[in-house]
Amino acid sequence: MDITFLLNGEVVSLTGLAPTTTLLDWLRETQHLTGTKEGCNEGDCGACTVMITDEDGSRALNGCILFMPQINGKSVTTVEGISAPDGTLHPVQQTMIDHHGSQCGFCTPGFVVTMATAHLNGKTDHDTQLAGNLCRCTGYAPIIRAAQAAQAAPVPKHLRAFKLPDGIKSPEGTDGGTQPSTHVQPRTSDELAHWYAENPDATLIAGATDVGLWVTKQFRDLGTTAFINQIPDLRGIADMGDHWRIGATTTIADLETHFAPLHASLATMLRRYGSTQVRNAATIGGNIANGSPIGDGPPALIAMGATLHLRHGDTRRSLPLEDFFIDYGKQDRVPGEFVEAVTVPKQPDTLRYYKLSKRFDQDISAVCGCINITRDGGNITDARIAFGGMAGTPKRAAQAEAALINNPFTEATIHLAMKALHKEFQPLTDARASAQYRLATAQNLLLRYLHDANQVQTDLHEVTA
Ligand SMILES: Cc1cc2nc3c(=O)[nH]c(=O)nc-3n(C[C@H](O)[C@H](O)[C@H](O)COP(=O)(O)OP(=O)(O)OC[C@H]3O[C@@H](n4cnc5c(N)ncnc54)[C@H](O)[C@@H]3O)c2cc1C
Ligand code: FES
Ligand code: FES
Repeated sequence: MDITFLLNGEVVSLTGLAPTTTLLDWLRETQHLTGTKEGCNEGDCGACTVMITDEDGSRALNGCILFMPQINGKSVTTVEGISAPDGTLHPVQQTMIDHHGSQCGFCTPGFVVTMATAHLNGKTDHDTQLAGNLCRCTGYAPIIRAAQAAQAAPVPKHLRAFKLPDGIKSPEGTDGGTQPSTHVQPRTSDELAHWYAENPDATLIAGATDVGLWVTKQFRDLGTTAFINQIPDLRGIADMGDHWRIGATTTIADLETHFAPLHASLATMLRRYGSTQVRNAATIGGNIANGSPIGDGPPALIAMGATLHLRHGDTRRSLPLEDFFIDYGKQDRVPGEFVEAVTVPKQPDTLRYYKLSKRFDQDISAVCGCINITRDGGNITDARIAFGGMAGTPKRAAQAEAALINNPFTEATIHLAMKALHKEFQPLTDARASAQYRLATAQNLLLRYLHDANQVQTDLHEVTA
């Protein structure tokens, strides 16, 4: 593929690039920019963090699962570009020294890039910003102190004054480049639809937070690929009157920003989805299309009554999101068909999202329960409940819902729903949790919903950021 981008302020144009080359490998192996480290090579440790800037702003991303075509037309700042051209340290570099934020130093470049990006964006929720950066020896307190000490300092001019040179934005489309038909970067959803219908075996790559690992961990050859992260009409959230239309390549970070004022519980969960770097890359379309039984997005969307919109060539169809998930690894999607959007009805905030995982940050759910109960006075008029981690797919709890609807919102009714849940779910035991734990906690989440709704203090030592 042919791509053009800025690297630490300098224009770089590459031709004939293998499309699944990761930015981390390219930086280290061809540019010898070895400040960007390889730790896990799967998005978990943040040692490879780079700052990516485009017209939407600057974001911290993991370079190890970022394919080169994903940075086409963008600006890459590595740790080597964080200090000023005259060598003056960035405020976060200076405060890392002042506060003894580094011991062996392996993690430090990744931390510095994440901190500089948060500093540029005026973010001061340092625990959240840095949850995707792991340090084995310093301990986090000095690093957080360093981030706090730098937060009031002005953003250095060389980072603030960023502007892409005219003409740098050069997505290839499906008809250009040196390998036109096998690796494409469509410019519009129409272009994607027609190309994908003709290349139904191709791999679509959105944020690459799943697909990246197929390459870095499983060494898979992806064959024909389409990079869809730069299609403007597939991205963003539109107000459609009585519902929200969420484009497939909307990132989890954008979803969190949008829903924070509307559905606090959902936003709280999204803040625990992967890490800052993962949320900046991962898309809701990828989270749905991968069909994972432990994906965090689908249960919430199902509990909110979401509709999925699929497209094949010029043919579009829509279905309730829960019907998309047929069985483990099997979704209602034909070759050449892609997720275009998901729509969510506007609604009062009766949704509660409970994510249970072994760690608070950056962990896959053992169980996630999304419970949405509508009441008229003391009576339940509607209920939508969905679980992740409880079956081979994200699954709606139809029997538990039926046990609730048209009954009083009381502990006795909740116990009926808990019993129904026991009948309709047979979860698995795996490394994350036993079947008994999953079932018992899922049932207890129903009870917790009741207590939360009644503002009863639950006897929990809840971990929060
Ligand atoms: C460190 C780490 C932490 C994570 N933490 C979480 C977590 O807490 N919760 C969670 O739910 N997930 C988590 N994930 C998984 C991952 O982030 C999500 O599944 C993510 O939403 C996938 O989106 P993506 O855009 O990166 O998909 P990609 O990797 O680009 O694609 C995933 C799959 O979807 C297909 N696809 C993508 N877009 C479309 C489309 N529009 N139409 C049809 N097919 C499409 C791709 O071909 C591929 O099969 C984590 C991943 C990592 C690496
Ligand atoms: S090397 Fe660990 S996140 Fe990239
Ligand atoms: S300073 Fe050694 S891993 Fe962080």
